Amino acid sequence: MSSPRRNPNDLRSHRWFGPDDLRSFGHRSRAKQMGFGGEDFIGKPVIAILNTWSDLNTCHTHFRERAEEVKRGVYQAGGFPVEVPVMSLGEQFMKPTSMLYRNLSAMEVEETLRCHPIDGVVLMGGCDKTVPALLMGAFTMDLPCVFLPAGPMLRGRWRNETLGSGSDVWKYWAERCAGRLSCDAWNEIEDGIARSSGTCMTMGTASTMAAVTEALGLTLPGAASIPAVHSAHSRMAAACGRRAVDLVWEDLKPSRLLSRESFLNAITTLMTLSGSTNAIVHLIAMAGRAGFKLTLEDFDAIARRTPVLANLKPAGRFVMEDFHDAGGLPGLLNRLRDLLHLDCGTVSGKTLGESIAGAEVFQDEVIAPRDRPLSVEGGMAVLRGNLAPDGCVIKHTAMEPRFLKHGGPALVFKDYADLKARIDDEALPVTADSVIVLQGAGPVGAPGMPEWGMLPIPKKLLRAGVRDLLRISDARMSGTSYGACVLHVAPESNVGGPLALVRDGDRIEIDVAARTIHWDVTEAEAAIRKAAWVPPEPRFARGYGKLFSEQVTQANEGCDFRFLHHGPRTPEPDIF
Ligand code: FES
Repeated sequence: MSSPRRNPNDLRSHRWFGPDDLRSFGHRSRAKQMGFGGEDFIGKPVIAILNTWSDLNTCHTHFRERAEEVKRGVYQAGGFPVEVPVMSLGEQFMKPTSMLYRNLSAMEVEETLRCHPIDGVVLMGGCDKTVPALLMGAFTMDLPCVFLPAGPMLRGRWRNETLGSGSDVWKYWAERCAGRLSCDAWNEIEDGIARSSGTCMTMGTASTMAAVTEALGLTLPGAASIPAVHSAHSRMAAACGRRAVDLVWEDLKPSRLLSRESFLNAITTLMTLSGSTNAIVHLIAMAGRAGFKLTLEDFDAIARRTPVLANLKPAGRFVMEDFHDAGGLPGLLNRLRDLLHLDCGTVSGKTLGESIAGAEVFQDEVIAPRDRPLSVEGGMAVLRGNLAPDGCVIKHTAMEPRFLKHGGPALVFKDYADLKARIDDEALPVTADSVIVLQGAGPVGAPGMPEWGMLPIPKKLLRAGVRDLLRISDARMSGTSYGACVLHVAPESNVGGPLALVRDGDRIEIDVAARTIHWDVTEAEAAIRKAAWVPPEPRFARGYGKLFSEQVTQANEGCDFRFLHHGPRTPEPDIF
């Protein structure tokens, strides 16, 4: 997709630096204050390196070094790099959940790009919410951009075992709760599970979002899986810098690259990876910012026709380092050519089909051949029924098969504090057939829809050998989580969805093959309960939390803010 080269006077930054007037004198003289000459920045693409580094983001510790490498690439290609810190959204330390701040970060990205003399962007993100936040803001501003994923951390090790982020934490925590793992062993796992900078190295949300970003055409080929500490990651950083300069000259911006088909490719990628359920929420929001509507039906339809080829934790065996060595995303996608829209554009300047042509797979154990998929259907399913009129999601490839069709009596917790207080009560009337229900954990309820959806299994069941249980909530769950967890129930309980009306003992049934979820109460009984339902008090009376609670949409709509998801384009700033 070749484009005519733009003229330096057409650069957006020319409005700041070019004119012979008082205001531009100020801009030029202050750039010189920083030690740059006119030859550094006048008539050259100004490339913003949006860096989500922070001492509080455990996954981005290599980003200051990478930003320098991006700068090297920008200089090599004749651009002028400017590193700009934006909100970091580290998954581990932000409470109640980083998801509460995804939209705030997206707003910051959009406004940072809008108000500065920036022509093109390298987006540096990785830890879960940084990816959609950066992309949502960038799509809205629509400047030429390329994404540099943080890359996964090295595999975890404990004794002779590979450890996967998150997934093996839950697994060994269950063993510890069941009394089968010593304190010393638990401490050794703590020492060995996160051994380098980089994102969670399972197919959690970070790896999933990096992969769907590559499938959207917004990274250079192969970028999604390069381990964070691999020398190839430094080379990729410099390549992103170089390419960002050319993207500006070619005026190749998201609105010229993205189409609804690009997003369908991203969904196909999500499904073949058996990736994180969180990607559903993020992709809907990102597509909205790019002007396209995705529905849960799009995800379910693609899931039904897409085989799972990636054998990665938590649904499979391997970790991202293995995936990268096995051929990475180009190798995987090249095995799925018939299911992809190959003529979609990418930031490399090639179509998706051209950029994956010839990409090989070197280990069929890690990336399965088409005739031996790990599952003939994609990694998740959308259920509907009277408990979730607007849909809910289950990752059926990462749970015990006995729950594919299951019914049982509900055991209801009104919020997470209630769950924490009672779940391990020895008198709790819970069996292996119970259906654990958590209310008050949705976008408005928590607020921010925390990753509480992998509800804990009561210790007394763990001691009895139970390792999976049907669980239902309006929460999300970590992409590294697993189990029979029905998530994203919409509408959520805090806005009066049917989930709010469930009581202990009500029978709930799911049938994944039929894509149904059924709450066995009469309409008359449900109406009586609804009439008596009192909306919970909002958690925030002021500030950002109040704005969030008032503006956030439901999970099936992407949880973006209503005033950001739609509306006319914000004009460029006046420069007076
Ligand atoms: Fe950062 Fe998992 S905690 S990617």
